[in-house]
Amino acid sequence: MKFYIACDHAGFNIKENVKNIVKDLGHEIIDLGTNSNDRVDYPDFAHKLSLAVLEDKNSFGILICGTGIGMSVTANKHKGIRAALCHDAYTAEMARAHNDANVLCFGERVVGIGVIESMIKTWCETKFEGGRHSNRVKKIEIS
Ligand code: RB5
Repeated sequence: MKFYIACDHAGFNIKENVKNIVKDLGHEIIDLGTNSNDRVDYPDFAHKLSLAVLEDKNSFGILICGTGIGMSVTANKHKGIRAALCHDAYTAEMARAHNDANVLCFGERVVGIGVIESMIKTWCETKFEGGRHSNRVKKIEIS
């Protein structure tokens, strides 16, 4: 699987660890910043990552801010992005299986590295179930 990752200053401290988790699971990860603890605006990074995921068919995204809320709210403004704010392996599993989510969001100030690892592992192992969920996912988009 191919992932893009981006964060704001409140997600920066954990970003390298998250990249290593993805790589250790055998997946590719491309870092779109931010690259320091200097304050930045999370929408800039959520937009940048969303455009990259939309451009690169079948890729996924990981967005980290303090809570994950700002990143997910912003990313979901993009048609074709289904960004899921997850808190544990169960929400990560359902985000893929039922919502066909393509961007995983979480908060550095909310979840620890063990939970993050279990969310990413589960995300990678879970496929969209399709079936009754396909029509629901189609109904998410408004034209
Ligand atoms: C930054 O302080 C914080 O507001 C941001 O990282 C995020 O949590 C917003 O949703």
